[in-house]
Amino acid sequence: MTHRIARRRFLQQTATAVAVGSLPASSWARVAGANARLRVASIGTGGKGWSDLTATAASPQVDVVALCDIDESKGHLGQAAERFPKAKTLTDWRKLLDQQAEFDAVIVSTPDHMHAPISLAAMQLKKHVQCQKPLTHTVFEARQMRLAAERYQVVTQMGNQIQSHEAYRTAVKLVHDGVIGKVREVHSWQSGGMGWILADDRPPGSEPVPSTVHWDEWLGVAAARPFLSKIYHPVNWRAWQDFSNGQLGDFGCHILDPVFMALELTSPLTIRAEAPPVNREIWAKGATVAYEFPGTSRTAGSKIRVTWYDGAGKAPSSDAHGLPESYKLPGSGSVLLGEKGTLVIPHVAMPKLFPEDRFAGFTIPVVPSRDHYVSWADACRGEDTTTSPFSYSGPLSESVLLGTIAIRCAGATLAWNADRFELSGAPKAQELLKKPYRSGWEPTWIV
Ligand SMILES: NC(=O)c1ccc[n+]([C@@H]2O[C@H](COP(=O)([O-])OP(=O)(O)OC[C@H]3O[C@@H](n4cnc5c(N)ncnc54)[C@H](O)[C@@H]3O)[C@@H](O)[C@H]2O)c1
Repeated sequence: MTHRIARRRFLQQTATAVAVGSLPASSWARVAGANARLRVASIGTGGKGWSDLTATAASPQVDVVALCDIDESKGHLGQAAERFPKAKTLTDWRKLLDQQAEFDAVIVSTPDHMHAPISLAAMQLKKHVQCQKPLTHTVFEARQMRLAAERYQVVTQMGNQIQSHEAYRTAVKLVHDGVIGKVREVHSWQSGGMGWILADDRPPGSEPVPSTVHWDEWLGVAAARPFLSKIYHPVNWRAWQDFSNGQLGDFGCHILDPVFMALELTSPLTIRAEAPPVNREIWAKGATVAYEFPGTSRTAGSKIRVTWYDGAGKAPSSDAHGLPESYKLPGSGSVLLGEKGTLVIPHVAMPKLFPEDRFAGFTIPVVPSRDHYVSWADACRGEDTTTSPFSYSGPLSESVLLGTIAIRCAGATLAWNADRFELSGAPKAQELLKKPYRSGWEPTWIV
């Protein structure tokens, strides 16, 4: 028996032994042994998947053993296969999971509608998972991801990598150190345009599917629809409700992350959006979503309001943020209004304190960055912990996705009972917590 095979067996046997026990994920990893190498499979190797894969493979302890992408062309599976010539290549993630003995962990970097179906199936095989943001496509799926990580005791990390950047880490520390006192109110925004909205409704017709693209696998759990170039794959799936959650889904898990972490927010009590009416297909080109959360030890009152703004040029008004006129707000970020000062957290740059004269002599203590990707690989191997495990990123994603339901029920104040999984205040609200799945593609839920 070669050393490599012995090590693999050891990892597999350890995974099985511990999965039936009750050790926390960190203990699983510790048992696996700090010297063990990690065999990683990557699902969705183009776009963001390329940087997820290469950044994780920067760990000298990682072996990239399998690459899976529905597009075999150079920009997708092709470039990954070139970079990792020893890795097996596949175009259907279900066939990859059939070969579960070959890998220990997966990176899921597909469009949003496939995050949960793939990640849940992987966790049920006791594989560690790194999954892109937003964690899922529906609130129900986000809850399931948290439960699965807990049930199967695997190491998890969402791809909100800015969390590990010194800018966000420093901002969180400033709030935790009490530099701006308890926080009274928050405004967060993304004022960039949505260049991926190319149509107002579903375009008619169909085009031949390129020979390199496996369209049925791209659609996955979503209802079948004809292929149209540039409309869906790659990138522009963001416009469509069947595959994405629009601008709030795209950026909320980044920009609201330091707000959640700094204030230790849990689940919102109410959510209300102002947005133009949307049809069943496309996301709104702009929205304001007002969340009310229960207060925490970091907030000034028994409740705290967090308001999200998106759409080209959209940002909180100067009346709302109260910053000097001479200060130009960053294109995206958050303003935290505290009892002793105001903190601006740009996305992605160092935080800034106001009023400037009050903080003139104050040196911001910089918290160094962490490696979001290698730390996940190390955590799988027992040498580190993750900072965005599904126990944290599941509830964060639930809150973001509740905002996207509010956008579809604009003008209604929705009331959320997280424990009972009940959303009231609009006729369709409860139904939008879940979605239908294509026959034959239904995930196996964690009850
Ligand atoms: N963390 C970040 O900063 C960041 C930045 C960009 C995108 N993202 C996230 O990354 C994910 C991918 O976004 P993108 O912009 O790279 O999209 P994309 O369409 O450019 O790339 C997706 C890749 O996955 C492949 N793919 C699609 N369906 C697949 C399937 N079922 N199985 C295997 N491969 C599949 C595609 O062929 C493509 O290579 C999204 O969840 C997005 O929100 C995160």
